[in-house]
Amino acid sequence: MTFPAGTDAVVHHDATVRGFASDNYAGVHPEVLAAIALANGGHQIAYGEDQYTEHLQSVFKRHFGDRAEAYPVFNGTGANVVSLQALLPRWGAVIAAQSAHINVDECGAPEKVAGIKLHLVATPDGKLTPELIDQQAYGWDDEHRAAPLAVSLTQSTELGTLYTVDEVKAICDHAHERGMLVHMDGARLANAAASLGRPFREFTTDAGVDVVSFGGTKNGLLFGEVVLVLNPERVRNIKYLRKMSMQLASKMRFVSVQFEALLTGDLWLRNAGHANAMAKRLETAVRGIEGITVVRPVQANAVFAVLPREVSERLQKRYRFYFWNEQTGEVRWMASYDTTEADIDAFAAAIAEEMAR
Ligand SMILES: Cc1ncc(COP(=O)(O)O)c(C=O)c1O
Repeated sequence: MTFPAGTDAVVHHDATVRGFASDNYAGVHPEVLAAIALANGGHQIAYGEDQYTEHLQSVFKRHFGDRAEAYPVFNGTGANVVSLQALLPRWGAVIAAQSAHINVDECGAPEKVAGIKLHLVATPDGKLTPELIDQQAYGWDDEHRAAPLAVSLTQSTELGTLYTVDEVKAICDHAHERGMLVHMDGARLANAAASLGRPFREFTTDAGVDVVSFGGTKNGLLFGEVVLVLNPERVRNIKYLRKMSMQLASKMRFVSVQFEALLTGDLWLRNAGHANAMAKRLETAVRGIEGITVVRPVQANAVFAVLPREVSERLQKRYRFYFWNEQTGEVRWMASYDTTEADIDAFAAAIAEEMAR
């Protein structure tokens, strides 16, 4: 099939095919695409001095408070690497959960690009606690150990769990009392806000988080994340670090306008709330299938389950999804903003069918 007019591009994919591998398999929300078209035309100053990026500041301030500063970047790994560099001196280290994306899924970018040591903690559910942080919070005065000067937590976590407002606050207080700053990997911050039913600022700015990697891609954007500084006294020089880390977009207006589309009205909440609801629907459906165990609380848009390996392998021929743990046979199923009830019902029926074979 070819596009109707004005382009030689060709449609190469079947848009009816759905998967559960990741929430970034989905396309771009139509309202975001329309916003990109709106920002097109004419010339705008490059590298972030455009009117969309300027306006974006007030959009983020409305959600996160008057001191918030938004620095759009290309991707989540970049947002994390830029944020962490701003928190740490050359000899600094960050305390994080072993399951954190910065540890597991960034090809060592924090270590290699930024030279940052990660002090890791095993957690049962992807969540740090003050007690777990204390396993690594020592040795500030010891030149033989990279100094733990930051804590990084992910909200919602890589394991589909959530920190409550009080839990974030307790971690921030604990970290600050020990001279450590707090980074939040918010690739799925909107899913967390939707699930908690709380405004963003209650579990970020007001809880004491210093800098957030604010996600957009997994919630309907074409691409783009934001390094969101909440404590500008302590988190400085992002503009230099962003460029040095190859995260400075020259045509930034097209990243910024996407966030404007997401955050001005309730698109962020509609998308994230829907993805969460679809994960719940899948959880309910598979809990009714004998032989399958949902192994983690479903608090955002991910379902983790254990089922016989041969069943998963047969299912993977019909739907894309990943093994989370090859040893235990645990799989991860992600719902997206555009996952439909019919998608879930068809997938659950396929699971039941393969289990019965
Ligand atoms: C928790 C978390 N942080 C960050 C990211 C950002 O990744 P990327 O660099 O692919 O945008 C992801 C994407 O999978 C993620 O799950």
